[in-house]
Amino acid sequence: MNTIIVGAQWGDEGKGKIIDILAEKADYIVRYQGGNNAGHTVVIEEEKFILHLIPSGILHPDKVCIIGNGVVVDPQALIREIEDLKNKGIKINKNLLISNRAHIIFPYHRVLDNLREDRKGRKSIGTTRRGIGPCYADKVARIGLRLCDILDEQNFAKRLEEILNEKNEILDKVYNFKGFKFKDVYDTYSEYAQKIKEYACDCHYVLNEAVKKDKNILFEGAQGTLLDIDYGTYPYVTSSNAIAGGVSAGTGVSPNRIDKIIGVVKAYTTRVGEGPFPTEFSTELMTIIQEKGEEFGATTGRPRRCGWFDSVLAKYSAIINGLDKIAVTKLDVLDGLKTVKICTAYRYNGELIKDFPAGTEILNKIEPVYEEYPGWEEDTSRISEYKQLPLNAQRYLERIAELLGTKISIVSVGSERKQTIFV
Ligand code: GDP
Ligand code: IMO
Ligand code: MG
Repeated sequence: MNTIIVGAQWGDEGKGKIIDILAEKADYIVRYQGGNNAGHTVVIEEEKFILHLIPSGILHPDKVCIIGNGVVVDPQALIREIEDLKNKGIKINKNLLISNRAHIIFPYHRVLDNLREDRKGRKSIGTTRRGIGPCYADKVARIGLRLCDILDEQNFAKRLEEILNEKNEILDKVYNFKGFKFKDVYDTYSEYAQKIKEYACDCHYVLNEAVKKDKNILFEGAQGTLLDIDYGTYPYVTSSNAIAGGVSAGTGVSPNRIDKIIGVVKAYTTRVGEGPFPTEFSTELMTIIQEKGEEFGATTGRPRRCGWFDSVLAKYSAIINGLDKIAVTKLDVLDGLKTVKICTAYRYNGELIKDFPAGTEILNKIEPVYEEYPGWEEDTSRISEYKQLPLNAQRYLERIAELLGTKISIVSVGSERKQTIFV
């Protein structure tokens, strides 16, 4: 079974937790896009791990974790993450591989991300400032450097020098920023290259060999469908294809090798950073859910904006990703609310729309149309069987499944492994 786990909202749906659980039955866990903008949380017996670049399967010592070619890798962040995990007793050696085609984040990418965000002021995207956008931009502009390029001792210096000359000119003339000395960047990155060369692999080769041997591969999405560069709320998106369709380009495994696609949705909606958010709560509920759901970014610590479950958006995700099943997380966070709402359509210029619109201006102006249901008083966080869930919670979940036209396979009621209900 080769399965894709994809975020079906604006990220932070709880993908890390779901991957960690499903990883038990997998042989390979593979990231296919994004970079260290991601923050995937796994809690094991009260110990919390936040993975940024390394797949969430790494906590299972007998699995192989791969960072695919579609990922952008900041070697400084990677080395730090490896060291942090090792210090916590996690084994990392032959069980981690990185595609030699993965693009590398350089200091000028991080600086450009910051300068552009600062320059935009109130119109900023609210990026994680990790250099993700500028690195993907260079990839597409064909001026990026990949892992295999920084490992190529004969040519790395020449290519870096050419690129750095242009970057420094842009930094100076457009942003009045001092720029980088070739020797500093070259020495630092040559050192990084030596440290990470043991992980380099041909990702497509390793994975297609695994497919031949009928191994189980789990593809780990980062971010979410509404942050996808093509299908997200552009320009308030990330710079990669977070959707299930990103898997083939990001790993070299053909779409006809994929057996199952599971979308992860939160029982409500959140987003970090700027951009339209039709079902966003007003202040009072915002504070309650933020606190109860501990909705603070796993990467930047920023408070996450919270709102009601938006089925227009989630249905759009279900279609684009071809979801076979959904995992609904954080149901427990809604415990104790008198009523719960689900957005089922948008109203725009007096008309009802049920398809997710493309334009930011429309999204900023639409009004969500809600169905309102009675909530449940009971604490769901200790429940382990679906039928034991309060009836109102079951009805809420069933309505979500009906609206999305997708069956629920997992309900999560807490961050621990054991707080998981298989349906
Ligand atoms: P990801 O980026 O999709 O992996 O999600 P994050 O790790 O950024 O955010 C999800 C947060 O919710 C983490 O702090 C998880 O530990 C936590 N979490 C996951 N599932 C549940 C759940 O069912 N209930 C509660 N209360 N927390 C959860
Ligand atoms: P995980 O994998 C939530 C958001 C940023 C910003 C936008 C662009 O943990 O779900 P970027 O740095 O990617 O250029 O920022 O995307 N963003 C995320 N939001 N979860 C994430 O990852 C995110 N990764 C990026 O907040 O709005
Ligand atoms: Mg996250």
